Amino acid sequence: MTDPTPPSNGPGKSGGAGGLGMPGGAGGLGMPGVPAQPITLRVGEHGVSATGSLFDRIGGAPTFDRLVRRFYEGVQHDEVIWPMYPADDLEGAIWRLSAFLQQYWGGPGTYSEQRGHPRLRMRHNPFRITSEARERWLHHMREAVESLELAPLDEAELWAYLDRAAHAMTNTFD
Ligand code: HEM
Repeated sequence: MTDPTPPSNGPGKSGGAGGLGMPGGAGGLGMPGVPAQPITLRVGEHGVSATGSLFDRIGGAPTFDRLVRRFYEGVQHDEVIWPMYPADDLEGAIWRLSAFLQQYWGGPGTYSEQRGHPRLRMRHNPFRITSEARERWLHHMREAVESLELAPLDEAELWAYLDRAAHAMTNTFD
């Protein structure tokens, strides 16, 4: 028997290895050789996930809010990337990034309910994301991730995604 339904509590019910923001790589960037659905460790052949979603493992919405607030504390002092951000709508930006990441990692789908399909590459088109901008974004995100003091495997999983996504978001090469 095959069950095409993605696990509701696998690593990112709205994420997965194939795309940046939606199930099965619909988020844009199909990765050759990477399965569209994440591999989930299960109890028995069709049993529940033995590992749960990263969203649950790391503490749910409050942890993502801490991550994103800490990230923006760094970004606010960054002379290269802060000018791109809406200074008069910082709370909105915090909500958008936190809600997106929660959804990606298996939390509630509130981001897409409010904002529609993530289309992250398209939404970043207005910004000049050079390798310098990307490295600064990653620097602030790294500090924010480390501040959470996650279990090493959770941290590695979260970081691998953020690093890959940031590279995919680079749209200006000079
Ligand atoms: C590589 C460097 C990046 C830069 C310089 C950058 C910059 C920006 C800026 C200026 C905004 C607008 C802020 C707002 O009004 O919400 C934004 C929005 C956003 N970014 Fe990035 N970003 C980067 C990478 C990423 C990555 C890697 C992700 C996901 C893992 C991401 C996810 C988002 C999301 C979800 C939004 C809100 C989209 C919306 O609903 O309008 N960004 N980004």
